[in-house]
Order: sequence, then C-alpha cells, then structure tokens
Amino acid sequence: MKEASQLPSAEPQSEVRRYLLAPMRSDDVPEVAQVERRCFTNPWPESAYYRELREPDRNYYIVLRWQVSPSDVEPEPAVSGGTLARLLRMARPRASTQPVVGFAGMWVIYGEAHVTTIAVAPEHRRLGLGEVLFLTLISEAMRRGAEFVTLEVRVSNVAAQSLYAKYGFTRRGVRPRYYSDNAEDAYIMTSPPLRDPNYRQHLLQLRDQLLARLAAEGIEILEEAA
Ligand SMILES: CC(C)(COP(=O)(O)OP(=O)(O)OC[C@H]1O[C@@H](n2cnc3c(N)ncnc32)[C@H](O)[C@@H]1OP(=O)(O)O)[C@@H](O)C(=O)NCCC(=O)NCCS
Repeated sequence: MKEASQLPSAEPQSEVRRYLLAPMRSDDVPEVAQVERRCFTNPWPESAYYRELREPDRNYYIVLRWQVSPSDVEPEPAVSGGTLARLLRMARPRASTQPVVGFAGMWVIYGEAHVTTIAVAPEHRRLGLGEVLFLTLISEAMRRGAEFVTLEVRVSNVAAQSLYAKYGFTRRGVRPRYYSDNAEDAYIMTSPPLRDPNYRQHLLQLRDQLLARLAAEGIEILEEAA
C-alpha cells in the first residue's frame, strides 16, 4: 500500500528522518485535534473534521506522520515492584511510533480552492514540512481543475504569510475582525492563476529547491497512495 515517493532519497546524512504523507482518515482526527490545539488559539472541534471528511469530492485533507526511528524511542524503565506496578505500566498507552506532526486541508468548488487549515507541530517546524503540505494542496487543486487557491491568514501571522508569499500568493483584501477569539483581521491571500505556465514553471522550481533542501537535511517523505 505504501510506496516510496519520488520525493528525496536522502544520501548526505547518515540518520534519515522519515515522514509519511497520507490522506486524512476519520481515525486520524483525535490525533489531528491534539496537534491542532498546540498550533491554533481557536482550534476546530473534532466534529468539524469528521464533517469535512464526509465530503471527499469537495474537500481534501492530508496528514503528515513522523516515522519515529528506534533510536528516538525512550527505553522503558526497568520493571520494579509487583503486580500492581506491572498493571499500571500496561495500562499506560505507548506513544505512537508514527505520530501525526502536521496536517492541511482545503475545499475545492466552482473552480476555486480554499485552504482551510495547515499546521506543523512546533518541534517539527522550519524543516520544509509546511512547504511539503502546502505544495501538496496546490498540486491537488491543480489536479482538480481549480483556477486559483485562496485563503485567510491572521495579519499577525508572519510565518504563514511568508510561506504563502514564497508560493506566489499576494494579499487581495482584508476581512475585518475575522477571528472570533481576539477579533483580529484576516488578510485574504490568493495564488496566481494555476493555469499560468509561468506560475507552473515557478512551482516546479520551488519543488526542486524543496526536494534538494529536504535531501540535504536527511529528510525523506514517503507517500501513501489515496
Ligand atoms: C505556518 C507553518 C505551517 C509553517 O510550517 P514550517 O514547517 O515551519 O514551514 P517550512 O519549514 O516549510 O517553511 C517554509 C517557509 O515558510 C516561511 N516561514 C516558516 N516559518 C517562519 C517563521 N517562523 N518566520 C518567517 N517565515 C517563516 C518561510 O518563508 C519558509 O521558507 P524559508 O525556509 O525558505 O525561509 C507553521 O509555522 C505552523 O504550523 N504555524 C501554526 C499554524 C498556522 O499558523 N497555520 C497557518 C494558518 S493560516
């Protein structure tokens, strides 16, 4: 089911860090919600994700899982104590060896793709994973025939705006007091026309740069077929 993607096979570093990119499924939602709560001040409730996932024709959601290598797993402490201690140890769920560390989603309708969410867990940021997620959304929007991609972003969210600007998105307007938690304004940011050959060429260059960066950092992205 899983296949190695065309994304990089990392030679330069001895310790390869692997991530698995996969379509989001209902089973992923509780973990996604945990990451969401660490990334957003006004997180979606889990029910919103379940609702989105019920309409795969209009929506597209992906998750990024980190394939924890054995050297990253903390050894279990030596067993001491009697039956109760052993039972308590068994009751504690072991940490997932493929935790969700990022996710993204959008809806695509009437020729417009609208990014609804994108996040990377704090300890996995600045590695290029946000770009992996964002580029995957843009590629899927193209595959579904969207004319352009649009989104809202907090005016204070410089990191996300910089990611979108890197992919050619420009500010097209402001939605005043868009965010209910602090009444912050949102910028509306929109891509160039997805059919523009120059933009497509630019995306290919960005993809190549991203692949080179990931390879240099020893990061390998595996893709699970939809
Ligand atoms: C926005 C976010 C997804 C970026 O994820 P990431 O994995 O750290 O991003 P990448 O490493 O792929 O960085 C890609 C580009 O984003 C921009 N960027 C990312 N973090 C940045 C930061 N802290 N400051 C400035 N620019 C930043 C840069 O342009 C960067 O390109 P560069 O490496 O060539 O400078 C991440 O910061 C996040 O999850 N934030 C919280 C959730 C959120 O705000 N989502 C957006 C809602 S609209």
